[in-house]
Amino acid sequence: MCGIVAYIGTKKAFPILINGLYRLEYRGYDSAGVALLNGGLKVYKTKGKVSELDTFVKDKDTDGTVGIAHTRWATHGEPNQINAHPHYSMNKKIAIIHNGIIENYSTIKEELKNRGYKFQSETDTEVLANLIEDVLLTEKVSLKDAVAIALQQVIGAYAIVVISEDYPDMLVAARKGSPMVIGIAEDGFYVASDATPIIEHTKNVVYLDDEEIAILEKGKDLVLKTIKGKNKTPYIQELEWNLNTLEKGGFDHFMLKEIYEQPDSIRDSMRGRLRVKEGKVVLGGIIDYEQKLVNAERIIMVACGTSWHACLVGEYLFEDIARKPVEVEYASEFRYRNPIITEKDVVIAISQSGETADTLAAIELAKEKGATVLGICNVVGSSISRATHAGIYTHAGPEIGVASTKAFTAQVTVLTLMAMRMAQLKGTMPKNKFIQALHEMERIPDKVEKVLNDGDITKFIAQEFKDASNFLYLGRGYNFPVALEGALKLKEISYIHAEGYPAAEMKHGPIALIDENMPVVFIATKNPIYEKVVSNIQEVKARNGKVIAIVTEGDTTVKNMADFVIEIPETDEMFEPLLASIPLQKLAYYIAVLRGCNVDQPRNLAKSVTVE
Ligand code: G6P
Repeated sequence: MCGIVAYIGTKKAFPILINGLYRLEYRGYDSAGVALLNGGLKVYKTKGKVSELDTFVKDKDTDGTVGIAHTRWATHGEPNQINAHPHYSMNKKIAIIHNGIIENYSTIKEELKNRGYKFQSETDTEVLANLIEDVLLTEKVSLKDAVAIALQQVIGAYAIVVISEDYPDMLVAARKGSPMVIGIAEDGFYVASDATPIIEHTKNVVYLDDEEIAILEKGKDLVLKTIKGKNKTPYIQELEWNLNTLEKGGFDHFMLKEIYEQPDSIRDSMRGRLRVKEGKVVLGGIIDYEQKLVNAERIIMVACGTSWHACLVGEYLFEDIARKPVEVEYASEFRYRNPIITEKDVVIAISQSGETADTLAAIELAKEKGATVLGICNVVGSSISRATHAGIYTHAGPEIGVASTKAFTAQVTVLTLMAMRMAQLKGTMPKNKFIQALHEMERIPDKVEKVLNDGDITKFIAQEFKDASNFLYLGRGYNFPVALEGALKLKEISYIHAEGYPAAEMKHGPIALIDENMPVVFIATKNPIYEKVVSNIQEVKARNGKVIAIVTEGDTTVKNMADFVIEIPETDEMFEPLLASIPLQKLAYYIAVLRGCNVDQPRNLAKSVTVE
């Protein structure tokens, strides 16, 4: 989704802004632009990549120490140069960048048109630029007051930064519903949609809350107010991430780097929580809510995309080992279908970015209805981590590849820890089984390492199937969500149509698709439902389908039936998703690379979906 970068200080702004836009590319976008104050206010923008903007401005004046920059992911109006941000106001004295959607923009636009305003673009953002200009001129207030007054008329979501020729030493930033973080450095202030463009300049950041305005002035302290004018004290936090985590570190793509980081990211998710020697799991972030969880009538898990698949694994875990009823909900459906929620429910919201608009709205709804809401987020300080009553960070480090990999396994790791903690509190797991599980969980990162070193089998299989038009992914039990996630990975980055199904459901529809051209990926590991999956494989082979099977090391039965097998180490079935999802990530990756796709930034997708 749209990315925002802004700078005001003593350094030249343009290199900071363009570098910041490159850092935000992973969020997904279709055009880019920059506005700089240097005497006058200049706006440069282009359709396409940040590199195209970079080339476009080569012969332009990019001097100045104050500027704003933006990558746009189209919502109102097609992705073209005119609709790209920044947008001037009509008198060209103000420019604005915006992430979010102004829902009542057409009403405001009509009013402004009646007052003589003309519009160049189809965007809701230009409406806001002109509204601010109108307030400034008619009410004769300062820029910061004009922004505050204008925002009080706006319905919807926004993160904006405003720059004005008449206020050459000031930037005004504000947010509601869309993320925004401010970096405080010796040389000045940095503003961005997330911390990735800021880390290399400063580790001291302030996350804006909804309906807050930040006034950033050269040589002055940060001033924070609500849009209604109430002063707020900035809460400065220190970023944990470092620059190395934002570089590719020798890998061809961020996605591959992140796939290979999983032994470490899973270890980091367990660190200090999995206490094997003490025979327990400790989850400091939700310690005060453990009894709520134990006593909850049911747990509702909400999320979108890959995080929703993690919820499904969570459902199997919580019901299996902690004997707690779980419902898994798409956040987007949950929020609009008048769900039955009471104060006896615990809602667990899962999100890598911590900014997904639908998940955030589902949390607010659950809170309104009196439920306790816990979060599982990767991004520290994100909106969801702040909106929930308590939560657990996954600590997977920044995930730049749009297709989620290490964040997924980190979410599953945290859910496994939560389910184990609940099982311990409720006594639903026999002591010896619990202790065995603690030991096995500790071994998982090493086993993931082993899966990663597969002697290039996934690359080989990718070569065989890179031209397929469809794929089917089948699994049962804990591996059903793994099948869904495997299919999602493939379609996201290779644009091959892929579907995930519970293996036994194949008979009720997808079997009609099977012929000699249909690759079917089975997760057929040695667990209590292994024999059932073997029967499903036979059904596919009987129809000449091509079978790629993930099997447990040493398996011979499936090996004799499948066209290709990928072995993973033996483990308890509750940990299988952590191992079985790895080869599926690699398979999707290699197929996408062989098809020449832009793996890290697949078309139309955004890393962080901050609009509904
Ligand atoms: C987008 C991303 C997905 C992600 C989903 C939910 O669609 O492309 O990779 O799974 O949003 O994001 P979240 O940050 O809430 O986990």
